[in-house]
Amino acid sequence: MAREQTLILIKPDAARRRLTGLIIDRFDAAGLTLAGAKMVSVTEELAREHYAEHAGKHFYEGLIRYIRGEFHAIPDCRVLALVYEGENAVEAARRIAGATNPEKADPATLRGSFGRVTTTGQIENLLHASDSPVSAEREIKLWFSPHEIIRPLYAVKGSDPAKSPE
Ligand code: CDP
Ligand code: MG
Repeated sequence: MAREQTLILIKPDAARRRLTGLIIDRFDAAGLTLAGAKMVSVTEELAREHYAEHAGKHFYEGLIRYIRGEFHAIPDCRVLALVYEGENAVEAARRIAGATNPEKADPATLRGSFGRVTTTGQIENLLHASDSPVSAEREIKLWFSPHEIIRPLYAVKGSDPAKSPE
């Protein structure tokens, strides 16, 4: 068992459908601890950097538009970015989220219960969850500054993991 932090993003479809609290409740119930939270206006640059591994894939351009809120008509759209901490937090969060495609996800998971594939084929799956500790470290550093996280777990420039910020 390893103590880990993982990045969760509440995507615009979840915000639009007022599912933010329900998603947070699932992480609470699983015993994960919130270590950071903020509303982020997702720039084109941040979206492309976050999803860099998918650049060039057939769904990439739609994904960039989706995470930036372009499909959900939310004025001044922001994404809630969360850092959760706990034993095996990365895998635990992935289990709570469910499979990428909501139609294939276990109905007991968030994506299986509330996600959908639109008539145009766009996947709407409510949340992002880091897929490995290596991804989690990269993503947390991309979305958060050290002082915004209660106890930075990963070595971040300018932070001392042994000290908690006041
Ligand atoms: O989010 P997750 O790690 O489960 O899936 P991914 O394979 O890393 O893909 C990232 C995101 O791209 C997904 O969550 C979907 O929003 C989107 N995607 C898509 O729209 N169509 C696909 N065929 C695969 C992924
Ligand atoms: Mg992924």
